[in-house]
Amino acid sequence: MSKPPQILILYAHPTPHHSRVNRRLAQAAAKLQNVKVHDLYELYPDFHIPVRREQALLQEADLIVFQHPVQWYSMPALLKQWVDSVFTPGWAYGPGGDALRGKDFWLVATLGGSERSYQPEGHNQRPFSAFLPPYQQTAELCGMRWLPPHLLFGAHQVNQQALAAYIDTYKKRLSRYPNWPELPAATATTTAPLTGT
Ligand SMILES: Cc1cc2nc3c(=O)[nH]c(=O)nc-3n(C[C@H](O)[C@H](O)[C@H](O)COP(=O)(O)O)c2cc1C
Repeated sequence: MSKPPQILILYAHPTPHHSRVNRRLAQAAAKLQNVKVHDLYELYPDFHIPVRREQALLQEADLIVFQHPVQWYSMPALLKQWVDSVFTPGWAYGPGGDALRGKDFWLVATLGGSERSYQPEGHNQRPFSAFLPPYQQTAELCGMRWLPPHLLFGAHQVNQQALAAYIDTYKKRLSRYPNWPELPAATATTTAPLTGT
């Protein structure tokens, strides 16, 4: 029998005790089989990252998930530090750097701003897709397939029903991976994010 697909979630939340959404996402994901939730702020509060160990974990995974609240239009500092340390030349990219090639990459991120705020007339001025290229290019430079992000706008305001639907979709996609029939574009090179509900 072939091995079930393995999922590694890089979960980064600097203040998880204040989290409304990510903490619940991480708890839900941790209950699923073949899913490992790797809680970076819990594991490495001093920002010291054991590179070889992280690389070994990545090598086991078929799907690599970045799950975090958006902070200053980007990822929290420890996740950035983790990428800087772990995605090394000759391992993740460049000559001989094919350790991540063929894996899938999925961004799961929550935003304080509403979807309207991410429009020309809103205070964030640009659609959130304008902030995605650094993620997508990082994945693609390393030969990973970019899957449509799973985003929740207005994370502080959304009602319980919308929140539950967002979490439920996360669980379903993780447990059905790699069979995501509701996402025909997942196999294409789309940049369009899928919003929360
Ligand atoms: C330092 C900091 C920076 C933030 N920057 C952004 C931002 O650039 N865009 C945005 O929409 N929300 C921003 N937020 C709001 C968070 O994204 C929001 O609180 C989070 O997604 C809620 O998820 P949680 O309930 O799991 O904490 C920021 C929050 C903090 C603390």
